[in-house]
Formats: sequence, structure tokens, C-alpha cells
Amino acid sequence: MINSRRKGRYGIDAPYVPLLMTAGLLACIGLMMFAHMSGLWITAVILAVVIALYMHTTLRGKFVAWRSLLVTLPWRGDERILDLGCGRGAILLMAAECVPRGRAVGIDIWSSKDQSGNAMDVTGSNAAAEGVADRIELKTADMRELPFPDDSFDVVVSNVAIHNIGDAGGRDRAIDEAWRVLRPGGRLLIADISKSHQYRDRLAALGARVVRRPLGWRMWWGGPWMATMLIDVQKPA
Ligand SMILES: C[S@@+](CC[C@H](N)C(=O)[O-])C[C@H]1O[C@@H](n2cnc3c(N)ncnc32)[C@H](O)[C@@H]1O
Repeated sequence: MINSRRKGRYGIDAPYVPLLMTAGLLACIGLMMFAHMSGLWITAVILAVVIALYMHTTLRGKFVAWRSLLVTLPWRGDERILDLGCGRGAILLMAAECVPRGRAVGIDIWSSKDQSGNAMDVTGSNAAAEGVADRIELKTADMRELPFPDDSFDVVVSNVAIHNIGDAGGRDRAIDEAWRVLRPGGRLLIADISKSHQYRDRLAALGARVVRRPLGWRMWWGGPWMATMLIDVQKPA
């Protein structure tokens, strides 16, 4: 149902992170070569492994993890899906493949600090490359204030996006908005690297029964200390 070979170009999440780590690795190599600080080899090896894991997650792991997740949902094929902070469409466009008669809506503020080359027209080109442009809608919007009526989506997803909101109050508003636009009986899936306790507690306060679980090594952003947790909720019908 979802093509495992992605044809779009999806960029790198938080590109300054691998850039800083690569600068650190190069500094270690330089110090070993020119200042004879050979003891730095352990740091260099650790940094190389962390960079490799991060790049795997951003280029491949998140696609594998979300594909496995999306194929388990009981699709009819005509659902309306919303992706909060869709970026270049990594998750949005895989979800769109599940709804040949439905609609997949992506909202974002298109921050290129959070994802390299992040722009609405890039996501549009990716939708065409994946063959789902006919069922995609993209909007510039903040997830704290969604421009949609109550109960308007069957499935709401979000991948490593909500933590980018710096204040707890703002993250609570994003959760409240996700819950508001989800129809009764609909499914909410949020994957994020931090703050997942906060999302769970907020949703529980809204009356949801929440499942929270790790998404495994393919979504480690450098190592197990930066693992991605999934929040999985079905809104009572
Ligand atoms: C790390 S990227 C992940 C993008 C996409 N979900 C993916 O997995 O490829 C985080 C995204 O969240 C978006 N974002 C950050 N704050 C936002 C906000 N308040 N409202 C909507 N989008 C936001 C960024 O612009 C960026 O596209």
C-alpha cells in the first residue's frame, strides 16, 4: 500500500545538529593529527557513530518506522488526514498513499532551521514525485491555532514537530487543537523526541486513553538518549 522506495527529496531534520557534530569530529581528527592528542580517538569514534545513527534516522529510519505504523491502521481509503508540521512531506505523503479517495492535509510554518530546504513548493513537488498530488492540500499555519473546524479529520499525525514549540503552554495548545479537529472515533499519532509525557498528560486530561511507547532504534536521533516516543490515541466515538 505504501511504496518503500521514496521518490521525493526530504532533506535533513535540524541540519545544524549533524553539522555541529561533524565539526566536532573534524576538530578531533585535526587535534589527533597535528597536536598528537591520540587519546581523542575514542571521542572521534563515538561522534562518528552518533552522526551515522542521526543520518540514518533522518534519511531512512523515520520512513521505515512510520511506514510500519501506517500500514497497521484500518484504512477505508477515503479518510481525511492532517499532518501537523509536515515539512517536506515525509510522513504526509506516505499517509496519502493510504487514502486514494481521501485527502491528506499538511500544515507547517516551513522553518528551515527545523528541516533543510523546508518550503511548501518543495512538499508540492515531492507529492507529484510520489504520485499523490491529486489528494494533497498544503497550508501555512501554526499548529497552536489550526484553521479547521471541530471534528474535521479521521487521522491526525505529527512527527518530531511539536517539541519545536518552546513553551509548555504552546505545546498544550497544539495538543488541544489536534484533539479538537479529530473526529470522534478518529486516531491521533504523535512521534516526538521529547515532551511526550506532557502530550500524554494533556490528552489524558482531555479524557483520552493514551498508549505511549518507544519507536525503536531506527528513530534514535544519535543514540538511545534521543529516542522517539509514540503517542497513540483513539478518540472515543
Ligand atoms: C523536524 S521537522 C519534521 C518535519 C516532518 N514532520 C518530517 O518528519 O519530515 C519539524 C517541522 O515542524 C515545523 N514546525 C515547527 N513549529 C511549528 C508550528 N508552531 N506550527 C507548525 N509547524 C511547525 C517546522 O517548520 C518543521 O517543518
